Amino acid sequence: MAYAELLSSLYPLVDEKLSPSRAAHSRGVADLAAALCARQDLDPDRGRLAGLAHDLCKEMPVDDQRKLAAGYPGISPGSALMAEKVLHGPAAAVLLSRDYGVDDDDILEAIAFHTVGKPTMNGLCLILYCADKLDPGRRNRDSAFVERCLALPPMEMLRLVVSASIAWLESTGHAIAPETRLLYTSLQQSVPGP
Ligand SMILES: [Fe+2]
Ligand SMILES: [Fe+2]
Repeated sequence: MAYAELLSSLYPLVDEKLSPSRAAHSRGVADLAAALCARQDLDPDRGRLAGLAHDLCKEMPVDDQRKLAAGYPGISPGSALMAEKVLHGPAAAVLLSRDYGVDDDDILEAIAFHTVGKPTMNGLCLILYCADKLDPGRRNRDSAFVERCLALPPMEMLRLVVSASIAWLESTGHAIAPETRLLYTSLQQSVPGP
C-alpha cells in the first residue's frame, strides 16, 4: 500500500477530529515513530501513519468508540482493550481499515494496543507504544528521561518506558491493564544477564 497519499489526507483529518493539543501530540508521535522506524530499517511512512492515527478516535463519544472497537478482529467484550480509557486504540484501527482501506496488520495492531501494550511487542508495535509515551511535546515530559530512552536499543527502551509507565500508574492510583502487567513481567524475564 502507498502511504504518501493517505498521509496527506490524514493530516487535515487529525486537525478536524482532535483538539489542537491532541492533534499536536499526534503529529509529534508521528514524527518520532517515523524516526524510530528509520533507525530499524522499517518504512518511516508506516510509523508516521500509525503515529498520526493512533488517537484519532479519542475525542469521539464513548459509545461510538465502543461500537467501532467491537469490530476489531478477535476482540471480546471482556478484553482489556474494551476498557473505556483504551477503547480509542482498537476503534482507530477499525476506522483506518474500514474507511481508509489500511490492510497492514502490523499498523492496525500497533494502533489497537498503543495504550496497554501486549506481552510480545516488537517492530512497529514497540515503536508506537514508546513514541506515544515519549512524545517530546507531552505535558510534564521529562526531557532527560526521553533522551535516555531514545539512546537505547529497542527492547531496552521498551523496558524503561514500561517500567516508568507502571510506576506512574501505581503512584497515581490508576488501574494497570493485565496486558501491561504481562508485558512488564515478560520484559523482566528477558533482562540480559551480567
Ligand atoms: Fe491513546
Ligand atoms: Fe497518544
